[in-house]
Amino acid sequence: MPTSSHTQNLSDFVAGLPKAELHLHIEGTLEPDLIFKLAQRNHIELPYSSEEALRSAYAFTDLQSFLDLYYAGASVLITEQDFYDLTTAYLKHAHYDGVRHAEIMFDPQTHTARGISMATVFAGIVRALRDAHKATGMTSYLLLSFLRHLSEQDAFDTLEAALPLRDQYRDVWIGIGLDSSERGNPPEKFARIYTRCKELGFRLVAHAGEEGPPSYVRDALDLLHVERIDHGIRAEEDPALLRRLIAHQTPLTVCPLSNLKLHVVEDLRQHNLARLLRQGALVTVNSDDPAYFGGYVAKNYTECARALDLSREELTALARNSITASFLPEEQKRKLLDEISAYAEGLI
Ligand code: ADE
Ligand code: ZN
Repeated sequence: MPTSSHTQNLSDFVAGLPKAELHLHIEGTLEPDLIFKLAQRNHIELPYSSEEALRSAYAFTDLQSFLDLYYAGASVLITEQDFYDLTTAYLKHAHYDGVRHAEIMFDPQTHTARGISMATVFAGIVRALRDAHKATGMTSYLLLSFLRHLSEQDAFDTLEAALPLRDQYRDVWIGIGLDSSERGNPPEKFARIYTRCKELGFRLVAHAGEEGPPSYVRDALDLLHVERIDHGIRAEEDPALLRRLIAHQTPLTVCPLSNLKLHVVEDLRQHNLARLLRQGALVTVNSDDPAYFGGYVAKNYTECARALDLSREELTALARNSITASFLPEEQKRKLLDEISAYAEGLI
């Protein structure tokens, strides 16, 4: 007899729920143990005496205080094998958490600025994605993210450096994103590169409305023509904007534990995830930078279930949203949605 979804323990229910993860920075999955291992392998001296000392520095006050450590941590990534090991470690966590498809952001400028070639970054990440697909059937796409604290010209140079690799990685590199310091770096700064990327046929996402105001969400839609908003939770402050997001079913990739750790919300019980879901917004749950924020995607689901009193039906709706909001072909979406239905009905 299959266990009914209502009697099954919450963590097991969530881990077994087929889902997609759509908001994940691969550099944000770099755990302290791997930072130390790669530092040793690459003969890099770290300003921390131990993994515990490093972890104890993860007491962020806002987005920038996190980004400073996140970019410093990424400096241990040097070789193709480093990027492979990083990505493989994330995919293991994701597989364990019931992730069937991941859309993974990476920040090439963080690496090319240190003299690491674009080819090295792509090769290591993609080899791991392909190996994981062979081993587990999990699928994944890559979203090349531009750093918004850098210039428009730097973004164009980065695109130029990556485009020669496009044919080789066409099956995985399907889109572009925009991340890093939000405040003071509005969407309009990147309107021209988004126009270019759209002409090139890339899928478009951007961070907006994490720390930045609702107008950044509106401008990401109107000036960047994004199909999905990363975070977007501050859109709730503008009722007309929220009505528009709901009417168009524009997906929001929400990252609750990230919002908690970066003081976007002070208590998970105050998070608007449940409110947005109950109003009909296409919200999804994601981990953002799990090595820094204390939990991979399943923990984001379970912590929200406890804090916001989400029912099993609502958790299932969030998993369905993650598939609907993905860039997978319709046929694959249908297959995964059918699996979720079967799971929720206790048939598998
Ligand atoms: N880069 C990695 N994580 C990020 C976040 N939460 N916001 C903006 N840029 C990021
Ligand atoms: Zn993010």
